[in-house]
Amino acid sequence: MARINEEYLKLPGSYLFADIAHKVEAFKRAHPETEIIRLGIGDVTRPLPPSVIAALHKAVDEQATPEGFRGYGPEQGYAFLREAIAEGDFAPRGVEIDPADIFISDGAKGDLGNFQELFGRESVIAVTDPVYPVYVDSNVMAGRAGTFDEKAGSWSGIVYLPCTAENGFIPSLPAKRPDVIYLCLPNNPTGTALSRADLQRWVDYARANECLILFDAAYEAYIREEGIPHSIYELEGAREVAVEFRSFSKPAGFTGLRCGYVVVPETVRARSAEGRTVALKPLWNRRQTTKYNGCPYIVQRAAEAVYTPQGRREVRENVDYYMENAATIRSGLQEAGLEVYGGVNAPYIWLKTPGGMDSWTFFEVLLHELGIVGTPGVGFGPSGEGYFRLTAFGSHENTAKAMRRIAEAGHWSTWKKG
Ligand code: MLT
Repeated sequence: MARINEEYLKLPGSYLFADIAHKVEAFKRAHPETEIIRLGIGDVTRPLPPSVIAALHKAVDEQATPEGFRGYGPEQGYAFLREAIAEGDFAPRGVEIDPADIFISDGAKGDLGNFQELFGRESVIAVTDPVYPVYVDSNVMAGRAGTFDEKAGSWSGIVYLPCTAENGFIPSLPAKRPDVIYLCLPNNPTGTALSRADLQRWVDYARANECLILFDAAYEAYIREEGIPHSIYELEGAREVAVEFRSFSKPAGFTGLRCGYVVVPETVRARSAEGRTVALKPLWNRRQTTKYNGCPYIVQRAAEAVYTPQGRREVRENVDYYMENAATIRSGLQEAGLEVYGGVNAPYIWLKTPGGMDSWTFFEVLLHELGIVGTPGVGFGPSGEGYFRLTAFGSHENTAKAMRRIAEAGHWSTWKKG
């Protein structure tokens, strides 16, 4: 019999969002009469923008002609999309990115899960806590996380940087130097964004300590306030120490279509065992050309349409739509007496559970008593205990309905389960 990778056996239960989906399915079977409002997983609900649909149709029709048909594409992505990204996402912010440093993929989740393959097993990983579970779980699978402490909800080999109301959800620099630091900004799940000065501290720290920053900018389109960097490359020195991950899912509705990209500047390096510095870009290229055959041509044409003037307007409308939900949720929860964070530069609202309830109990209460699905904060890490996440990606109608249900349930500052 084949021997399995023992590291998989260390992973607790199932993936957070799969676990929640099972619980919701079980509840639905037991209570088919309840109309469930899903504000759990950050999945978009608005249809794809019309310019994306038009580009898809056109690209599909091309496939029916001998001249237009495409077989295997470049594993790194087509030049038309890499150039559109450099021009559309970076140049307007004064950041010059070489299209050759951009690697197109089928989404940020895979890229973020796969990138750790480039690091030695002994590399020390630091994550903000709470955190998008993919960063931790993919390092567990690679044998880099040590052992899981059930009681603490943490891994012995991972450095956790707590983000709670007490520090304004802004992580402190690590007390002990890690090799790799994952930063997601604006943050999933807390909805926090960092100012330019705060992010510069991380870049400076990484430069001074030879760390690598894996910067997840999937929610960049949701930034509303001035003074918040949209890309880590807006900061001085970041090209030496940071790899940036982006997604078409959250701004342009590609959660089903699938497209994202990674920027691996030529200048980002790490060390080999004998101390030589090695550029990461050729390694990522090697990995992608070996294990990946590229994002479909028609999807890349659809992504390209996002950068047309019409596409930009449509994406902006979708983002505005979701940010209206974020405002509705923020005010709805505040009026109900809850302590609320995030939702200003991000499509996630992070709240303190009422009455000192733990995150999973609050999940059960919302589901069983109000028919609302959210995400327990502790599912994102130990510092998420006592917090809860709601997403702004629902429809206006469902979001407003959820807030009515919460308002009608009573004043939550004095609320007890019952
Ligand atoms: C989330 O709900 O945190 C996200 O949808 C997860 C993802 O983007 O994979």
